[in-house]
Amino acid sequence: MRLQNKTAWITGAGQGIGEAVARRFAAEGANVALTDVNPETLEMVARDLGPNAAAFPADVTSKEQVAAAVKGILERFGRLDILIANAGVTRDGLALRMSEANWDLVVDVSLKGTFLCCQAAMRPMMEAKSGRIVTTASVASLGNPGQVNYSAAKAGIIGLTRTLALELAPFGIQVNCVAPGAIDTPMLQAVKEPVREEMLKRIPAKRFGQPEDVAAAHLFFCSDQAAYVTGQVLFVDGGLTTGI
Ligand SMILES: NC(=O)c1ccc[n+]([C@@H]2O[C@H](COP(=O)([O-])OP(=O)(O)OC[C@H]3O[C@@H](n4cnc5c(N)ncnc54)[C@H](O)[C@@H]3O)[C@@H](O)[C@H]2O)c1
Repeated sequence: MRLQNKTAWITGAGQGIGEAVARRFAAEGANVALTDVNPETLEMVARDLGPNAAAFPADVTSKEQVAAAVKGILERFGRLDILIANAGVTRDGLALRMSEANWDLVVDVSLKGTFLCCQAAMRPMMEAKSGRIVTTASVASLGNPGQVNYSAAKAGIIGLTRTLALELAPFGIQVNCVAPGAIDTPMLQAVKEPVREEMLKRIPAKRFGQPEDVAAAHLFFCSDQAAYVTGQVLFVDGGLTTGI
């Protein structure tokens, strides 16, 4: 039990990687505070995890809703030790045809949403003089045709992570980033089959990652084993970004 007596706030927890993190962290003894914009899936995950889990539905792009979630978490669990800023969306398209709406949505959810959640979580963490924040980038942060919005948002998250790591280190707060490759979640399942086949060919490990593979990296960053690790980006991608 590596997270006994800890309270972890996980965004995008209604499915996919966020749900896997919630399940893994609950199994490690944490109280899990779950946020998602979809209240139905969120309630199902929270109910399934039992009394040490609670749902705080919110849209991470809304400062008011994010603040209300943190207030609710502190009222319910009395503390906030960990933030997993995981919520994200894709709206793919070539740059020439990218609509302003799809640019705004993807950048708002991933980049602004991550910032707002970090900003709301850092105050109680600073008061406690301890905390762990894990943000979510992607292999797409290195560049991916058809994802100019997503790639820019995810690269921005790496800059945000490194800057927050520097600002928050004196307060005992560590900020790291997990950058998944192609992980078998509803987000990847929405990609057309021929594109998925091409993606698979490029993965040295010859399989898509499972959400649990990514949750294991989150657990490392939030465990005592990572006591001296901050500002780092861990690619969980089966070797996709290794080599030329
Ligand atoms: N699956 C992959 O291959 C992959 C690869 C690299 C990075 N990622 C990143 O990992 C994270 C999780 O991805 P996933 O594959 O589990 O995606 P997913 O689409 O399966 O789940 C994302 C969850 O975020 C929620 N969400 C969306 N917008 C939100 C908002 N405004 N406020 C609150 N919640 C919101 C959704 O309702 C959903 O439950 C995302 O940041 C994604 O960009 C995923």
